[in-house]
Amino acid sequence: MTELYWDPFDPTIDLDPYPLWRRMRDEQPVYHNDKLGFHALSRYADVEAACRDPRTFSSAYGTVLELMTSEPMGGGMMLFTDPPAHTTLRTLVSRAFTPRRIALLEDYVRALCAELLEPHVGGGGFDYVQDFAVQLPSRVISELIGVDPADREEVREEIDRAFHIEEGRGVVNEVSFAAMMRLHAYFCDQVEARRRSPRDDLMTALVEAEVSTGEGVRRLTTGEAADFAGLLVSGGTETVARLLGWACALLAAHPGQRAALAADPSLLRNAVEEILRYEAPSPVQGRTLTREVRLHGTTIPAGAKVLLLTGAANRDERVFAGADRFDVRRHFDGHLAFGLGIHFCLGAALARLEGRVGLAETLRRFPVWDVDHERAARLHSSTVRGYDRLPIVL
Ligand code: HEM
Repeated sequence: MTELYWDPFDPTIDLDPYPLWRRMRDEQPVYHNDKLGFHALSRYADVEAACRDPRTFSSAYGTVLELMTSEPMGGGMMLFTDPPAHTTLRTLVSRAFTPRRIALLEDYVRALCAELLEPHVGGGGFDYVQDFAVQLPSRVISELIGVDPADREEVREEIDRAFHIEEGRGVVNEVSFAAMMRLHAYFCDQVEARRRSPRDDLMTALVEAEVSTGEGVRRLTTGEAADFAGLLVSGGTETVARLLGWACALLAAHPGQRAALAADPSLLRNAVEEILRYEAPSPVQGRTLTREVRLHGTTIPAGAKVLLLTGAANRDERVFAGADRFDVRRHFDGHLAFGLGIHFCLGAALARLEGRVGLAETLRRFPVWDVDHERAARLHSSTVRGYDRLPIVL
């Protein structure tokens, strides 16, 4: 038996991490990577318990391995805060980011899918990720936030640059940093403009939201509201693009299930959950231990970086029978692709909507396709996993 070694930055391992993740679950449920200095939990029960215990498993030191620090990060990025700061921020943004506001986007998402897919009807094929999956979420986020139509193209290009990946440096590079700074400045201007003249949009709702704390009524500062808009962009673009890419590849590999979905779109809701379970777009979430933890006979010291492998947990045979079998009709209670507990993905309803409508509109126009695997390319950072290019032949 070869030595068990998992490296989240290794692009070859990333192509198919599942055999390794199975060994980690079975042989070393508390895995330790000496070279990169982290521990990893891969069983469903352990990842679930860790997500539900933010007091021990802190997000305040960052949650993306290459960006994790030994001091709390500070700042208003909800994803990188613990209670009580997280509770206040999440309550405030939840007042603006309501299920009603998301549900209202369905017609827009459908129209956008039609606009993006229709030009390919009758053609020989197109790149499903670059021409569709990447375009859809960044435009949906712009609509949701309330970006002016005149600024949309510029904002979309800036969002693209914010996800620029460099060999060896991942998402931590000057191009993406500069783009994030420009987006932040743009959102600050927009927030200030909403304070002067309110509109019926998310950004206005954000600046108007209030919460009562021990120190009186609290509203978001301009910087916090802009941070949140930036978090929506970074949390809601990359991930949805990967979800749609996985959907396209998985359904091409399972033509019988694809035909069933084309014939009965009511199966799509469950299919989206199974796609998320089977290929989590964001399969790794980082935490830092605030105290020593003993688990499966191993002691993890306070201050240790612990990676929660939600993608491995979703293939745990202890919870999912035949976990490596893709089955859009599978009955199951839940999965961890959106995380769990206090940081559970705020955009889950929107992601599900984009996944369901995106697939429905695809299947309506293109019931059958093949993937050109020769020309397909993967994109990979320590937290995002999926296709960057996925040419399909119609
Ligand atoms: C398939 C698509 C998506 C996936 C797989 C995904 C995954 C996740 C995961 C795993 C977390 C928890 C991270 C952790 O525990 O550290 C998270 C949090 C979050 N997501 Fe998503 N996400 C998706 C789409 C979206 C969308 C569309 C939005 C916004 C429009 C969004 C906004 C957020 C925000 C704001 C948080 C932070 C919540 C908090 O810290 O309380 N996500 N997401």
